[in-house]
Amino acid sequence: KKKIIVAIDGWSSCGKSTLARALAKQLGYIYVDSGAMYRAITLYFLREHIDWTNETLIPAALEDIELDFRPNENTGEIEIYLNDENVEYLIRDLIVAEKVSEIAAIKDVRAFAVEQQQKMGKKKGIVMDGRDIGTVVFPRAELKIFMTADNAVRVERRFKELVEKNPNISVEEVAENIQMRDYIDANREISPLRQAKDAIVLDNTNLTQDEQLKKALKLVKGAV
Ligand code: C5P
Repeated sequence: KKKIIVAIDGWSSCGKSTLARALAKQLGYIYVDSGAMYRAITLYFLREHIDWTNETLIPAALEDIELDFRPNENTGEIEIYLNDENVEYLIRDLIVAEKVSEIAAIKDVRAFAVEQQQKMGKKKGIVMDGRDIGTVVFPRAELKIFMTADNAVRVERRFKELVEKNPNISVEEVAENIQMRDYIDANREISPLRQAKDAIVLDNTNLTQDEQLKKALKLVKGAV
């Protein structure tokens, strides 16, 4: 059976990762959360106090970063490792979310991540979600989905997720972070968030996870 590349892009907190994960599982494909890579790089820069506004420091810092995706022993879910440390949980923190878009806008950071992403897609049979997957990483992906959802729904979903870990978090903080990331991601010079011309829009404001998966599976059928 022919294997394809599925690129899922869209705004922050639209449920891209949830759909991508479920779709990959159903298809027996590899799942790659490209945002996790930018988040892990951000975590490293924060920990090591790298002054990322000084672009000359970036290449050396990146040389010390090794990113891996490995399945969780118990759940089988794919998780990201930063220099052999599982950081899947840590990178979801708002402290990381507040800086990640700034760091993801840096040219060398993007080149570093995109090169690895393209390597992972060499054999196809992959679902990758992010901001530039259908436009830059895999411009020839067989299926491109662009996800959106109403702002209020996105804020509510992300708030629910974050408040479980940090009860002190406010809805306003979460809303502001989503808005700020969307703005930076869509307006940066390199690989800004754009809907690819050949992408299919999926607005999931009123769709359950199951309904989204069904729609996506139908799209895959049409694309292979
Ligand atoms: O997908 P997630 O929200 O975890 O991504 C975190 C951030 O990483 C985004 O807000 C964006 O700044 C950056 N990102 C990116 N390109 C991607 C995926 C994520 O610039 N392909």
